[in-house]
Amino acid sequence: MSITFAIITCSSTRSYDEDTAGAALEERIRANGWTLLGRIVVPDDRVAIGDAIIEAAADKADIVLTCGGSGLSLSDVTPEATADVCERKVPGIAEAMRASSLRITGRAMLSRAVCMQRGTTLVINLPGSLKAATECFDAIYEQLEHAVQMTAGAGH
Ligand code: MTE
Repeated sequence: MSITFAIITCSSTRSYDEDTAGAALEERIRANGWTLLGRIVVPDDRVAIGDAIIEAAADKADIVLTCGGSGLSLSDVTPEATADVCERKVPGIAEAMRASSLRITGRAMLSRAVCMQRGTTLVINLPGSLKAATECFDAIYEQLEHAVQMTAGAGH
């Protein structure tokens, strides 16, 4: 089935061309035959990130992947921005990413990532490094088609 994604990399220091993590996520989306609405880089700014999520949801993205800004630095505000514009928590996806990542590195416990729904759009916070973002995506991607089907009311 087709899934429509948007990728929002949250970084005040990275340009679009330097966004190797976002590019690797884009590659994985295309390799699965899914659709990408767009990939952008926004600064670590709560309002800017929230606005980008609102826009992607308005453009009917099934899934928004944010990339970066989910650590402990005070400039990391992606989880807060996500919560600002989403209504419902989907904790299992973030739990699955952390559980899988903890088998690779103890640093996974430093992730504050959240997954939430804005209407029928699922927002998933991924970490910002190429290695961490792809490890987390690889831990969950097999469940995403079912997640989108269930969101659309198709049940199991
Ligand atoms: N998850 C995986 N799979 N691999 C990693 O290397 N790094 C962790 C964590 N999750 C990591 C990971 C670290 S060090 C941090 S600070 C958090 O993700 C948040 O990363 P971010 O601030 O880039 O979003």
